[in-house]
Amino acid sequence: MSALALDAERVRLDFPILAERVNGHRLVYLDSAASSQKPEVVIEAVSDYYRHANANVHRGVHALGERATELFESARTAVAGLVSADPRGVVFVRNTTEGINLVAQAFARERLGPADRIVCSEMEHHSNLVPWQRVRDQTGCQLAYIPVTPAGELDLEAAEALLRPPTRLLSVAHVSNVLGTINPVRELVRMAHREGITVCVDGAQAVPHMPVDLGELDADFYAFSGHKMCGPTGIGVLVGRPQLLEEMPPFLTGGSMISVVTLERTTWDEIPHKFEAGTPDIGGAAGLRAAVSYLESTGMEAVQGHGAALSDYAIEALSEVPGLTRYGPSGANQLGILSFNLSGVHPHDVGTVLDRYGVAVRAGHHCCQPLMRRLGVAATARASLYLYNTREDVDTLLEAIGEVRRIFSD
Ligand SMILES: Cc1ncc(COP(=O)(O)O)c(C=O)c1O
Repeated sequence: MSALALDAERVRLDFPILAERVNGHRLVYLDSAASSQKPEVVIEAVSDYYRHANANVHRGVHALGERATELFESARTAVAGLVSADPRGVVFVRNTTEGINLVAQAFARERLGPADRIVCSEMEHHSNLVPWQRVRDQTGCQLAYIPVTPAGELDLEAAEALLRPPTRLLSVAHVSNVLGTINPVRELVRMAHREGITVCVDGAQAVPHMPVDLGELDADFYAFSGHKMCGPTGIGVLVGRPQLLEEMPPFLTGGSMISVVTLERTTWDEIPHKFEAGTPDIGGAAGLRAAVSYLESTGMEAVQGHGAALSDYAIEALSEVPGLTRYGPSGANQLGILSFNLSGVHPHDVGTVLDRYGVAVRAGHHCCQPLMRRLGVAATARASLYLYNTREDVDTLLEAIGEVRRIFSD
């Protein structure tokens, strides 16, 4: 068993909510794939913004307006630094879902027609599937899916066959939110770019958990959410290739995204502001900046190493539970997301009983109904790990699963 890459017991102390007692037990939070908890520094950064810098951005000539603008723009630089992107390509949106919708409506809808094809995969979150169905319905283009193998990985031979004309756009998850699979995105980008295909990546489950270098990955668009990476809800990021963003029309229109407005027509502001209509989530940006700095000071390599070692520990323990089926790969291309079912027990009942022991997991289809159908199940229970989880948390999960089995075998 490999050593954990960081001291999660100490990390745990940075997150005030983890001191909560739930149903009389120490809280074991294993639902970070849905939304992570926030460290004290993030909570303080949001509060400090409202106490000391609250004003609108990009418009005030007064001191607070300048403070708010500086904070907001420094959050953009921080995010760009975390993922090695050009800050001009970093667009603040509400979440991953909005980022993908922006690409769907301002890029794909504008450029695709009945002769074209979009490709995504069977393992996509609804956020990276429904927007493309909508574009298909709006433009008459085709939509095809890379199949998922029984091992829970993308079928790369099928991908290669799909990544040629008439495909014009590939949109795929970096990490599956159900199976934990780390997809070979660099390889997929290479295959796609060879054929002139634009690539959009759903990075919602990757950026929080592993180093992501967008310069190296070379995707054209990449979306992620602040709330899954220790930041606040309400702020997310779409990173776009600046040249593409410049060519694209805006997604939303109104204040803050304009250059000149007359009663007849309007010209757009420069990127990324062209895509940030209306007052943005400035407090959210302040919190996200603090989250980025927290993750960087912990070290993304250490976060990934911790997730991998804890995941191996949990996978081994779960494999010994009679009647438990786990979905997804093991080993190096698995990232701390453990979906499972217990024979004869509905996953909602699993989740409800675990909650009695203070263990928070998610139960349901995880916004991946097509993948559930592919796996032949209606739902699963899902335990997802993060930097504040410990071996003790996994042991508690296992004990609580034992209780579920005892209750449902009576
Ligand atoms: C892989 C993946 N994509 C997209 C999303 C949507 O994220 P959000 O709800 O923050 O837009 C999620 C959230 O669970 C996800 O796991």
